[in-house]
Amino acid sequence: MLDKVEFVAGSDDEKSRHDRVAFRASVIAGLSADQKTLECKYLYDDLGSDLFDQICDLPEYYPTRTELGILETATPEIARMVGSRAELVELGSGASRKTRLLLSAFDTPSLYVPVDISADYMMDVAEQLRGEYPTLNVEPVVADFIAPFELPKKSGKGNRLLFFPGSTIGNLHRAEAAEFLRSLATSSDADYFVIGVDLKKDTAILEAAYDDAAGVTAAFNLNLLRRINRELGANFDLDRFKHKAVYNEVEGRVEMHLVSRTAQNVSVGDCEFEFGKGETIHSENSYKYGLNEFADMAKAAGWRSEQVWTDPDTLFAVFLLAAPRP
Ligand code: AVI
Repeated sequence: MLDKVEFVAGSDDEKSRHDRVAFRASVIAGLSADQKTLECKYLYDDLGSDLFDQICDLPEYYPTRTELGILETATPEIARMVGSRAELVELGSGASRKTRLLLSAFDTPSLYVPVDISADYMMDVAEQLRGEYPTLNVEPVVADFIAPFELPKKSGKGNRLLFFPGSTIGNLHRAEAAEFLRSLATSSDADYFVIGVDLKKDTAILEAAYDDAAGVTAAFNLNLLRRINRELGANFDLDRFKHKAVYNEVEGRVEMHLVSRTAQNVSVGDCEFEFGKGETIHSENSYKYGLNEFADMAKAAGWRSEQVWTDPDTLFAVFLLAAPRP
């Protein structure tokens, strides 16, 4: 749960050493399991983040443009609900047009708090936004928002709106997503919460979105092996693995896998792993929700569902939730 924690100051070197140890432990544990797995958060090194940006513009990847379209319609209503001098707390990087859409619609927003693990990138964005909105106080928080983190105290000038676009909630298992929503309800001090949620739909649409014709998602997935080679001294041969995306209808999730094209052994530092031909490494889940299913989960976590907007094809949903009344 997102109890407040204290962050102990440490040097960048210490932090990167700590991150490297955690990465190695995660990879060794994941590759030692019966179904080999890798944690999807490691997809986002510099190249991975760049590839993800490219994914967002692909014709097959409908979530980004669909959510943006929904937000264009929903923003005036969100701004009316939230009121003047609002505080916007965004979970994830705040570079996107979606942030500016909200900030521009609000009546004199007082504070913008982007929360992201990627400090350099976020500081650049913060600087740009200070230039664009001179009366806005911008206070970035460097943190992995899935883990416990501390937010600035509420100023009391206006309502606090939590913003979690992109259906990033879909990359958590359902039980983790429910717990995450519950933690935010009890510890974020938010009055409202706007969250983007990708919806269940035809398998063909989903599988194309995660296995595009140009091969960008394949490159994004395979880059995880390149990162492990570079950072952990592994010897994955990227030509001997291929990308696979499959919609698991029972679980309601798109799974990304890396499939071993041959029987082979791979070492990660001094650990050796055996792969059978066709054996896979499960590298990401992207859960999809039904409208009622998500509303029920949010309600069980303590949020009130104020409004939901979808696109004409019901591909994607944006929920406006309200905090439990004290
Ligand atoms: C970041 N996240 C919401 C994306 C998704 O759709 O699950 C990550 C992604 N993986 C492959 N394509 C996009």
